[in-house]
Amino acid sequence: MDKIRIRGGLRLKGTINISGAKNAALPLMAASLLSDEPLVLGNIPHLADITTLAQLLVNHGATVETNGHDDGGNTGGRELRLHAARITSTTAPYDIVRKMRASVLVLGPLVARMGEAKVSLPGGCAIGARPIDLHLKGLENLGARIVLEDGYVHASAPKGLRGNEVRFPFVSVGATENLMMAAVLAQGTTVLDNAAREPEIMDLADCLNAMGAKVSGAGSSRIEIQGVARLHGAQHRVMSDRIEAGTYAAAAAVTGGEIDLIGARLEHMGAIAVALAESGSHFEVIPDGLRATRHVRGIQPVDITTQPYPGFPTDMQAQMMALLALANGASTVTEAIFENRFMHVPELARMGARISLQGSTAIIRGVESLHGAPVMATDLRASVSLVLAALAAKGETDIGRVYHLDRGYERLVEKLAPCGADIERLPA
Ligand code: UD1
Repeated sequence: MDKIRIRGGLRLKGTINISGAKNAALPLMAASLLSDEPLVLGNIPHLADITTLAQLLVNHGATVETNGHDDGGNTGGRELRLHAARITSTTAPYDIVRKMRASVLVLGPLVARMGEAKVSLPGGCAIGARPIDLHLKGLENLGARIVLEDGYVHASAPKGLRGNEVRFPFVSVGATENLMMAAVLAQGTTVLDNAAREPEIMDLADCLNAMGAKVSGAGSSRIEIQGVARLHGAQHRVMSDRIEAGTYAAAAAVTGGEIDLIGARLEHMGAIAVALAESGSHFEVIPDGLRATRHVRGIQPVDITTQPYPGFPTDMQAQMMALLALANGASTVTEAIFENRFMHVPELARMGARISLQGSTAIIRGVESLHGAPVMATDLRASVSLVLAALAAKGETDIGRVYHLDRGYERLVEKLAPCGADIERLPA
């Protein structure tokens, strides 16, 4: 397995192009199943998760072309042309779903278009149990019959889905997306109450509307969808990745540097910008994006709690902790979305961080410096927090299990090296 080696302690300065957002691209790709006409998506990041979902779409009968070339679902380009002229299989098999939980996003589109779907239950993952009960209850509200059997969800609605009121007991990004995609082809009007408000939800609504759907209110907690008989093809550009932008802003902050994040948008940064500002860094709007700079000498301690958007995102929690490990004082980080998302803590401790855990809260006592060490991580954001710590640390850090980073960070080494990072990828 490949490793990333970083020799830390260098101040980063330069420009990074922010990629299209993985978490926007995945539901947008699933939306291609809703129409028999092509959906062309621009600004698609080159990531393992994108390839996995493309393989799943091919399994359902779609053709996937990258920049005009049919590559059998093995994507890796900037533009994807997804064409589900015919759905040849409504089963999402275990072998693909187990690789990536977001595969469950095909459930809503398949039931909506085909009246049935059989999707492997995704099971838990390293950061928690992550059930999909909200997705299933929501589909039941729209008239689907749900049966769980042999590790699969069978959803059927032979006469089509019917619009209804769906009130989520708590906010779920994936359930909101799945229900939006199911409701666009339902008969009548659906109202999603307590819906997720993430910018990725707005991106999905924009794309669905470009395909002929009638979705309003995305970005608020009440989304209204008037069902239509069919959707047509469309072109859509995937929004930029706010978590990638936040991660590189944290890289600038932790090394006392300055990085221009091309394509990043301040209106999407919300609580990330607030937390970085409190820690002594700031964003400045520049013509094509944002400039992230640390403007005070030391890193200031900050208390954060993860929340659904517009709160502080759980997907930035580990990166923020790497930064706060070097603060002038004690910070707290409370994880309120996932129950087991502190696996980076023992690894950061191996690099000299002083972090203690009390339930879902981490208390971080800032240290003057971190030191390099061999480390491993168990999920995407945990891995990148180790990259950030290593960039600031004295000495050399080897980070194992790079495949976690490949799931969510496009060309990480190639983006950081021109900013002055001493970073290389070593083949196994
Ligand atoms: C999405 C993101 C992920 C991010 C998360 C929270 C994608 C592909 N992934 O994941 O990067 O960390 O939002 O911002 O966009 N839950 C249930 N039952 C359900 C659904 C969710 O109990 O039916 C729980 C989850 O276990 C979790 C919480 O609700 O504790 C929020 O999860 P959710 O917003 O659904 O996350 P995902 O859509 O899986």
